[in-house]
Amino acid sequence: MATAPELLSAAPEAVIRSMTEPDVPEVVAIERSSYQFPWSEGIFRDCLRVGYVCRVVTVRGETVGYGVMSVGAGEAHILNLCIHAEFRCQGIGRKLLGYLVERAATAGMGEAYLEVRPSNTGAIRLYQSLGFEQVGIRRGYYQAVGGREDAAVLKMPLRGRRPASV
Ligand SMILES: CC(C)(COP(=O)(O)OP(=O)(O)OC[C@H]1O[C@@H](n2cnc3c(N)ncnc32)[C@H](O)[C@@H]1OP(=O)(O)O)[C@@H](O)C(=O)NCCC(=O)NCCS
Repeated sequence: MATAPELLSAAPEAVIRSMTEPDVPEVVAIERSSYQFPWSEGIFRDCLRVGYVCRVVTVRGETVGYGVMSVGAGEAHILNLCIHAEFRCQGIGRKLLGYLVERAATAGMGEAYLEVRPSNTGAIRLYQSLGFEQVGIRRGYYQAVGGREDAAVLKMPLRGRRPASV
């Protein structure tokens, strides 16, 4: 894999495409290296099977991140958004999130929701910068070392919004 210094500001080169079954092992490798309590391979396969919006981001052909979103009943739920550690802070997460939000709006969804650990301040900053606002807390939603951690629930209205510049 190319290293971050070779790929400073990789976002313009980042390509978003549909995730397929053969992508799952690489996606799971990024997932395992990014989260303490990662999704299993089976969860990603289920997301593909039920037709969730599953996308990977590639830079020069390498998978560097992914996003998973469910869309239905007027609401989009961003279920996972993850960029390989070596490719973070280059605008790729913002590009992928902007893509998912646009996709939800185009599909006619009224709102987009997501959950995030309150301790994940970098992700929260990204979400807020795109227009998500906290609308609630789910108590004990996440597994955590020695117990559970709350989730902050964030919402973004999609109707009547200006398209994000991504
Ligand atoms: C959250 C995540 C997807 C962000 O992806 P990214 O490609 O690094 O984000 P970007 O480079 O597009 O950054 C966009 C904005 O997010 C914020 N941000 C991202 N990482 C940050 C960090 N470590 N500290 C502070 N702010 C951060 C900044 O506001 C940034 O905007 P700026 O560059 O104009 O300052 C990535 O850090 C990640 O995959 N983390 C591990 C998995 C995870 O926690 N996913 C979210 C689960 S809810």
